[in-house]
Amino acid sequence: MAKLVWFNGVVSPLEEAMVPAADHAHLYGDGLFEGIRIYHGMVFKLDEHLDRLYFGCKFMGFKMHMTQAEMKSTILDVCKQAEITDGYIRLNVTRGTALGLDPKAVKTDPNVMIMISTLALYPPEMYEKGLEVITTSFRVARPDTLDQRLKCIGRYSYHILAKEEANKKGAGEGLMLNMEGFVAECTGDNIFIIKDGKIRTPHPSQGLLEGITRNTVIKLCREAGMEVTEDIMTRYDILSADEAFLTGTAAEVIPMISLDDRPIGDGKPGSITKKVIEMFRAETHNGTKF
Ligand SMILES: Cc1ncc(COP(=O)(O)O)c(C=O)c1O
Repeated sequence: MAKLVWFNGVVSPLEEAMVPAADHAHLYGDGLFEGIRIYHGMVFKLDEHLDRLYFGCKFMGFKMHMTQAEMKSTILDVCKQAEITDGYIRLNVTRGTALGLDPKAVKTDPNVMIMISTLALYPPEMYEKGLEVITTSFRVARPDTLDQRLKCIGRYSYHILAKEEANKKGAGEGLMLNMEGFVAECTGDNIFIIKDGKIRTPHPSQGLLEGITRNTVIKLCREAGMEVTEDIMTRYDILSADEAFLTGTAAEVIPMISLDDRPIGDGKPGSITKKVIEMFRAETHNGTKF
């Protein structure tokens, strides 16, 4: 397998790939990204990732020069060139290249990067043991600043600081609340809780990325006859839950066993969580072949 980067049509080895110094995301964080998994020689949920990206481009006013279909076939072609069976695609689209905040200063097409690499976020034993989480001091942005549903590069600066805070306190992830104190999401994952057999996750209006893994899990659980509600939650709901787990493209589905040093349920991964992990792993056998 080769780690490589397609940047505006030019393919280079990962170590040699360069972006223009005045790229608008490099200067201002003015770009969008997707992290996408490759499982068993197929791209997982590619259309869902591209739908989210292309809606983000529309919202941000990026003048996309590639259709969604062209983007899809380019990604599949780059995966083929990388000869990869399991890995991670980092897809970035930025407004373009220009110095100056004003979007009118950008006269180029958006810059597009497709990076093919690998990613293992947590060691395998964490999926058995479960993850400890703390509530970070960082709140998610209000919807009238930057809607958290946008996977905008710029907003990740405070997610990185929140993650650092969690790691410094010995936790694997940091829970982020919204400005009203309701649960939103973790620094790079969505959160689910289970109480009396019923599954709950915060509603997207609470300030979260509507994760592709989150939506996949909701669909799989509902198809399996489980009740899933998207609603408003506080830390109390998490601490009084029987089980909890986190979802994300990088983390996949991982049990959460404590919040702020208090065990959730009996402090061990629960039976429904284990079933969700099983269903998710089975689902990774469906994808777009390249
Ligand atoms: C802030 C945040 N929330 C949730 C997620 C999970 O989203 P997805 O399942 O689409 O990867 C991510 C993933 O990158 C994220 O960065």
